[in-house]
Amino acid sequence: MRVLSGIQPTGNLHLGNYLGAIRNWVKMQDEMDADSACFFFLADLHSITVHEERETRIRNVREMAAALIACGIDADRSVLFNQARVPAHAELAWLLNGTARIGWLNRMTQFKDKAGKNREGASIGLFVYPVLQAADILLYQATHVPVGEDQKQHLELTRDIATKFNTDFGVEVFALPEPYIPKESARIMSLRDGTAKMSKSDPSEMSRISLTDDDDAIAQKVRKAKTDPEPLPEVAADLAGRPEALNLVGIYATMTEATPDSVCARFAGQGFGAFKPALAEVLVETLRPIRQRFVALKDDDVALDAILDKGAAKARAVAAPTLARAYDALGLMR
Ligand code: ADP
Ligand code: TRP
Repeated sequence: MRVLSGIQPTGNLHLGNYLGAIRNWVKMQDEMDADSACFFFLADLHSITVHEERETRIRNVREMAAALIACGIDADRSVLFNQARVPAHAELAWLLNGTARIGWLNRMTQFKDKAGKNREGASIGLFVYPVLQAADILLYQATHVPVGEDQKQHLELTRDIATKFNTDFGVEVFALPEPYIPKESARIMSLRDGTAKMSKSDPSEMSRISLTDDDDAIAQKVRKAKTDPEPLPEVAADLAGRPEALNLVGIYATMTEATPDSVCARFAGQGFGAFKPALAEVLVETLRPIRQRFVALKDDDVALDAILDKGAAKARAVAAPTLARAYDALGLMR
C-alpha cells in the first residue's frame, strides 16, 4: 500500500480544504505502519496554470508546507515535498504525453470548468494538467490516492494512461492507483450560499473559514452565516431543501466525527440562535491549535526549506527507478 496525494499551493487553506482533504491525509498517515511512508506534495508545477508573481508563489509553497504540518502531517513519517524540486514529475509527464489521447483530455470536466467560455485562451498547461497529475501518481507506484470527489475523473484518466502505457510497451512499469474517497469525506459549502462550495476563489471572506482566522473571526463568521428561521429537525433527512442548515449541521457532524442524524437529534427543536454558538465553539477549539502551530512555523523559512529539502531528496530517490523504466520501455537512452 502506498498513499500519495497533492494539493496546489495557492494561498490560504480553508475549512473545506481541511475537512475535505488534509484531515483525511493525516488520518491515513496515522494509520500507516511504521515503515511505509505516505507521500504528500505541493503541486507547484500545477500551480503555473494560474498566474502568480514569483514572490507569491515562493511564499505560497512555504506557507502551504507550514499549513500541512500544522494540520498534522509529520515530515519525519511522511514524505513532504514540492513537485518542482523533483524533476522526474515534469519528465514523466512529457513521456506520458505520448500515451494520453486528446479525446481523453477533452472529457475532463475540471478543464471545462476552469477554462470557462474562453477555451481557446486557456493555457496548454491547464489542458494537460491531468497528465502531470498522472505522472505524480505513477512515479511513486501509488496505490491509494486520497482525493475529493472532484478528482475522481483525473484518477480514472491516470489508470487509463497507465494501462495503455503498460500494454503498448508490453511491460508492467506502472501500478494502477485507486482513488480513495473517504466515505465520511465532507463537501463543505459556502457560509453565504449553501449551494456553492466553500472555495478560496469566492470573493466574500465571509463565505469561508480560513485556517488563519482567529477565534473572533471564526465566531463572527458562524454568527453571520446564512440560515433560515426554522428549528432543527429530529433527523437529517428533514433538512432537505434547507441547504444552509444542512451545511452547518454537516460541518458540526464532520468536526465532531458524528453523524448528521445524531447532531439533529441533539439540537432538535432548537433554532440557530442555540446551534450557532455550539458550532462556533467546536470550530474555535479545533482550529486554534492548528492556527497556533501554523503561525509559529509559517515565517521560519530556514526550517521549512530544510523540511522540503529532505522530502525532495527522499522523493527523488523513490521516483528514479520508475522514471528510468519508463525511459527504457520507450527505447530512450539517457
Ligand atoms: P478551492 O476550491 O478553494 O480552489 P482546491 O480546488 O485547491 O480548493 O482544492 C484543494 C483540495 O481541497 C482538494 O482536494 C479539494 O477536493 C478539497 N476541497 C476544496 N474545497 C472543498 C470543499 N468546499 N469541501 C470539501 N473539500 C474541498
Ligand atoms: N489536482 C489536484 C487538486 O486540484 C491536486 C493534485 C495534483 C493531486 N497532483 C495530484 C492530487 C496527484 C492527488 C494526486 O486538488
